[in-house]
Amino acid sequence: MSERAQLRAMVTGYRLSAALDVAADLGISDELVDGPRTAADLARCVGADPDTLHRLLHALGTVGVYEERPDGSFANTELGEGLRSDVPDSIRPLARTLNSPALWAAWGHLGHSVRTGENAFQAKHGVDAWTRRRNHPEENAIFNQNMTVQTTAIATAVAEAYDFADMSTVVDVGGGQGSLLEAVLTRHPQLTGTVFDQEHVVATEPSSPALAPRWASASGSFFDDVPQADALVLKSVLHDWPDDRCVDILRVCAHNLRPGGAVLVVERLLGRAGFEVEAAFSDLNMLVMPGGRERSEQEYAVLFDAAGLRLTGVVDTASQMSIVEARAATG
Ligand SMILES: C[S@@+](CC[C@H](N)C(=O)[O-])C[C@H]1O[C@@H](n2cnc3c(N)ncnc32)[C@H](O)[C@@H]1O
Repeated sequence: MSERAQLRAMVTGYRLSAALDVAADLGISDELVDGPRTAADLARCVGADPDTLHRLLHALGTVGVYEERPDGSFANTELGEGLRSDVPDSIRPLARTLNSPALWAAWGHLGHSVRTGENAFQAKHGVDAWTRRRNHPEENAIFNQNMTVQTTAIATAVAEAYDFADMSTVVDVGGGQGSLLEAVLTRHPQLTGTVFDQEHVVATEPSSPALAPRWASASGSFFDDVPQADALVLKSVLHDWPDDRCVDILRVCAHNLRPGGAVLVVERLLGRAGFEVEAAFSDLNMLVMPGGRERSEQEYAVLFDAAGLRLTGVVDTASQMSIVEARAATG
């Protein structure tokens, strides 16, 4: 492909993203589980206009998401299978989250952020992303579902990469539905753990009943307090916040670390070879949506210093996430 053609594909990429969102939202790939169907048949089931749905599926067929067959029916391809709700690592919640009207509108304000340095979501909607989700339970549910799918995909890699051997308690701070905590407790049977998050978000029971005896749930704000533990895990939390708010969260964590314990920041690191594209575009997403940023190892070290902690190690996992370890600056 020529450079011009590549650039054109980049510039028009939003069309594909929007088309995938609609297919995901309508549940087309789920409807195709038992075999090929016509657009008219699908339209009746999912509540769509037959001609328009045909145009959407034809467009997605040209890029290999569905197979358009000679008899006019459509079938899932390997790509289309990934939009099913019931497959491991399903991309459906991501497609629905990334194209929610609130997010779409905020990304349309990226230029505002770049010109002013301000958070696009707040400028567009008049509230921050967390307040918006609290007031829109459906958006909150889709966001949480997507976080669970994304985190489940990397949780085992994180749980396997870190040596929790001399620890007995762990708190998944801002842990949402607790998928990382579940992987950590499964891999390290000596641990008991707590998932901590906002009241309208936090899981109240583990998805695996076998973990229930070692699993607890607590709610509140990590700007005020968090449960005490040997390991306080912050996954995809600090990247949501600007530096001064990160220092506030880390101070609360430092205060609640048991002697000898560690704060474990699980994030994509800017500058990690092989992962820069994901990290750099996630950085823009943080700018536009929650008003945070992705950071390098050195930038986390500066935040730790300001919060009474010191960086004591970085463990790259088999996933795109790294674990940045911090311990009390003194002692
Ligand atoms: C990007 S999500 C990460 C969730 C989870 N750690 C994961 O990686 O799947 C950020 C989490 O921070 C939580 N959060 C935001 N503000 C919070 C606050 N003030 N106190 C506690 N949790 C908060 C959100 O509810 C959300 O679950």
